[in-house]
Amino acid sequence: MKAGAIGVFDSGYGGLTILRQIRRLMPQYDYLYLGDNARAPYGTRSFNIVYEFTLQAVRYLFEQGCHLVILACNTASAKALRSIQQRDLPELDPSRRVLGVIRPTVEVVGNKSKTRHVGIMATPGTVRSRTYELEIAKLSPDIHVTGEACPMWVPLVENDEYDSPGADYFVRQRIENLLRRDPLIDTVILGCTHYPLLLGKIRQYMPQDVCLIDQGPYVAQSLSDYLRRHPEMQERITTGGTARFLTTDQADDFQTKATVFMGEPLVAERVQL
Ligand code: DGL
Repeated sequence: MKAGAIGVFDSGYGGLTILRQIRRLMPQYDYLYLGDNARAPYGTRSFNIVYEFTLQAVRYLFEQGCHLVILACNTASAKALRSIQQRDLPELDPSRRVLGVIRPTVEVVGNKSKTRHVGIMATPGTVRSRTYELEIAKLSPDIHVTGEACPMWVPLVENDEYDSPGADYFVRQRIENLLRRDPLIDTVILGCTHYPLLLGKIRQYMPQDVCLIDQGPYVAQSLSDYLRRHPEMQERITTGGTARFLTTDQADDFQTKATVFMGEPLVAERVQL
């Protein structure tokens, strides 16, 4: 069996904030990033469409030789991960793995919240799926969860408006709404991989005593723990220290914007799923 890169998938640019943290922790591995920019955003799409698109991406990354794929997208993790793991993987190749970003994030919440009131800020799709509520209930059933859909936040990031006065308006509006709905919230999960770009503004409008959970470092640590527990998977990952970037839309657009997310210049290739 031939070893391959770790596949990292997102609807667009958001997953780069996760890849950046994973590479920081584990620079030795090879990575293959795929952004489905031509069909982003996923956050307002139906369950079936997100599942269908995500499955296509996973198949594609498997064909490129990845044995392990990370869905670096909360919307895809919320709507497609379980079906892919339970229904598709046994048929596609039971020895490969697909992991998401929600479980590693939920694992840290129990230790952070003192009031046991937690807020989730995410895409409408992630909030509607109630996946965060279900996963938190499994680990910390005493926690009360309130989900706040932020439909404008991903478009602000995708359209380079995350630093504009328009962003101030929408960030403040959603934070105030969440805290009005549950004033006891002391911990807020940023449940979308695009949101780290809005972090400056989110911090500005979030009361200082509210703990913000930015998931990238937790996802990276959880992956590192997973690979330590699974040496058979570790052996199937190549260690050249490289990262390749694939997009379903224009490569030059991707390169320009992705540089902001990754914090370094990169070269992208356009592919068709
Ligand atoms: N980055 C994705 C997430 O974490 C959402 C972006 C989108 O709506 O496509 O949920």
